[in-house]
Amino acid sequence: MFDKIFIEKKEDIERVITRYLPKEEGYPKTVIEAMNYSVLVGGKRIRPMLLRETYALFGGESLIIEPYLAAIEFIHSYSLVHDDLPALDNDELRRGNLTTHIKFGHAMGILAGDALLNYSYEILSSAYELSPMYIDRCAKANKYISKKAGIYGMIGGQVVDIEAVGKTLDIESIEYIHMNKTSALIQAAMCAGAILAGATVEELNVVEEAANKIGLAFQIQDDILDIVGDEDKLGKAINSDAKNQKTTYVTIKGIEESRKDVETLTQSALDNLKALGYTNDFLFALIEKLINRIN
Ligand code: IPE
Ligand code: IPE
Ligand code: MG
Ligand code: MG
Ligand code: MG
Repeated sequence: MFDKIFIEKKEDIERVITRYLPKEEGYPKTVIEAMNYSVLVGGKRIRPMLLRETYALFGGESLIIEPYLAAIEFIHSYSLVHDDLPALDNDELRRGNLTTHIKFGHAMGILAGDALLNYSYEILSSAYELSPMYIDRCAKANKYISKKAGIYGMIGGQVVDIEAVGKTLDIESIEYIHMNKTSALIQAAMCAGAILAGATVEELNVVEEAANKIGLAFQIQDDILDIVGDEDKLGKAINSDAKNQKTTYVTIKGIEESRKDVETLTQSALDNLKALGYTNDFLFALIEKLINRIN
């Protein structure tokens, strides 16, 4: 039952985000094709799903959410395009297909990433036009997303991840990397949903803490799958971390301990969210399902 609803919700998100993609025309056609390829070629759509379901958890019902689904997935997709570049992780397979820089050339890979990021902010800055009564919530959500996507979030984590190549790290440094390169965008998604639905500051703090744990668990599972995953199901090459001499959560704690931490962090995040007193059974089931994900 969960799987059927998940697929329906994923398809609906894909319909929405497809509407927000730019038309492949004009002089910059090649880079627009590369942007659209990067987004449409696959992906689980976990961030827009968490965004929409957190919005629903707090009773949100407006179409104002739609540009946010697109923007968060475009920011995430750009982060993957750049993460795969030769100067970062140098990977050739993503979402079951060639990485953007392999398919379109390195220059277009870089530019498509830049373009997706910039386009996200174009979308975010006009989101309020759909429902001007929510302009204050939109401004607050946009500020939060920008911060979490940047140096105090995703980019910050990627910087430390790259600088750590070949070095031995302690668990605190790995947690910094995970909390920033991965939790930050999950926080952006869930907290934007909460903000747009009118959550209080106290509620927002709870969502932020829960999203941090969900993101940590998500990246630990990603590190596990990089070792024991099935390439066909994952849609990306395994052993990328070892190839790049990355110390990961699993290098330090081992697979069994890491698996336990995924479970503990997830249950703790669910406890935090449930204690808010609202219900969204699909959201809670989704978070729980991520524990044993195989892709
Ligand atoms: C991959 O994210 C990058 C990480 C932060 C672990 P996802 O596992 O959500 O990738 P897609 O969107 O499904 O391709
Ligand atoms: C990626 O971490 C985090 C991003 C911000 C893109 P990884 O480098 O482990 O992600 P994958 O394994 O390539 O998807
Ligand atoms: Mg990386
Ligand atoms: Mg990578
Ligand atoms: Mg990885």
